[in-house]
This record gives sequence, C-alpha cells and structure tokens, in this order.
Amino acid sequence: MSEPFLTDEQVAAFERDGYLVVDAIADPREVVALRDGYDEIFGRVGGFAEQDRIELALDGERPVLPQIVNPERYLPELVQGTAYANAQRLARQLLGPGMVPMGNHAINKPPLDGAPTPWHQDEAYWDPHADHTAISVWVPLQDVDESNGCMAFVPGSHREPVRPHRLIHPDAHGLRLADDTEPAGAVACPIPAGSATVHAGRTLHYAGPNRTDRPRRAVAFAFACPSAPRATPHDYPWQRPEWFAGDATDTQPDDERKGPR
Ligand code: NI
Repeated sequence: MSEPFLTDEQVAAFERDGYLVVDAIADPREVVALRDGYDEIFGRVGGFAEQDRIELALDGERPVLPQIVNPERYLPELVQGTAYANAQRLARQLLGPGMVPMGNHAINKPPLDGAPTPWHQDEAYWDPHADHTAISVWVPLQDVDESNGCMAFVPGSHREPVRPHRLIHPDAHGLRLADDTEPAGAVACPIPAGSATVHAGRTLHYAGPNRTDRPRRAVAFAFACPSAPRATPHDYPWQRPEWFAGDATDTQPDDERKGPR
C-alpha cells in the first residue's frame, strides 16, 4: 500500500465540494519533457485506433476541440512518471483500494483557436444501466488560467442528479448541458503546470477557450469503483442516436461514447 497522497483535509474538501485542486502532482521536469510528445501525437494524421482520435466539437466542419482517448498508447510516458503514480495514489484514497483505472484522455486546445469545453457532467457519457463512482484527475502541461482554458467547477454539484445534456455539434462527440445558462456559483481553478484538479463523475465542469498563442495541453486520468448495475436505468436520451437533430446516421452508437471527456 502506497503512502497517502492527500491530507485528511483535502479528502474532506473533495467530499464536500466534488472537486479539489492538488499542487505539484507531477515532477516539473517530467511535465516539460512530455510537451513535445504531446504536440507530436496531436499533430499526427492517422495512425490511431478506431475511436481513439475524436472531435468533441466542430466549427462548421473544422475540428476545434480534438481529443485523444487512450493517449498512453501513443505516448507511453504519460503514465510512466510521477503524474500517473500520484493520480493512482489519490484515487485509492478517494475511491478505496478496489478502484480500477477507467481510461485516460487528452484534450488539446490549439493556440488562438481552441473552443470552450462546455459545461457538462462526465456521467452523462456513461452507461445509464449502472451506478458510477468515479473521479478524473486533470493535469495541465503548462500553467493554466482563464486565458487558456483552466477548469471551472460548481461546488456541491456532484450530489445532484445528471442534468439533461445535448450534443455540442450534431456531427461531433462532445456533450453539453441542454440549458445554455452559466451555472450559478462556478469557481475557476487556475493552476500551475504539473498540478492537478480532481473532480467526481457528476461535478459540473467547464474549461474556457484558449486565447493565447500557445497550445493548452492537458491530460486526464480516470479511476472508478467497479460500477453496480441499476434495477432501473437512467433515461439519457442524448445517448440515443435517433434523438439527435440532423442525420442519425452521422451519430455514434452508445457504446462508442465511454469514459469522461
Ligand atoms: Ni468532463
């Protein structure tokens, strides 16, 4: 059993707020060393397993919110250093020793071009036939603030039901709250490179656009307790292809939309 990573106060704050800022989860040299590889995999054309490179949002037909699912398949160093080791340690503290890795992803916001990641709850993407207890550990590879897309959270929203969601764009994969109104009480979390934010499956969260002339690189590691089947499934109509506006043949079946985004 590894040493605890979080203090009791941090664990209590996470349980109260549904999110947490954690300083210095990664060795600074590791973070700098990851940047070139991160840029390289986002610059690749092709070579990805099916559904590993997806677009969360489009501007017309132009991708503006590229995501790589399972980025460690293409950049193994992402899970070989202090960031992932410490993410596992804090996941064991928050979820218990039975926690399992739930998959990783990376979202890149290109310079002067990255779209916002609209308000959503990760659980809206997940299987409605199960109850989920999960966290995401989000690690930016450069300093982040509101100029380049830091995370923002609504404290206490992790205790709410999953709100109605819809697609960001009919031909892309990302989900957003159906209600366009900015949720009340949002807290932006500017953090340095190699620090982390942690949030729960139902915590309302958002990341703004990147208005700077440098990429906004971030990777997210997800962990979960084994999920429990529900007697009565949730009704998530946004996961049903026929529900989407536009041509249903352009949308993805439910089982292709797994994991937090
Ligand atoms: Ni998310």
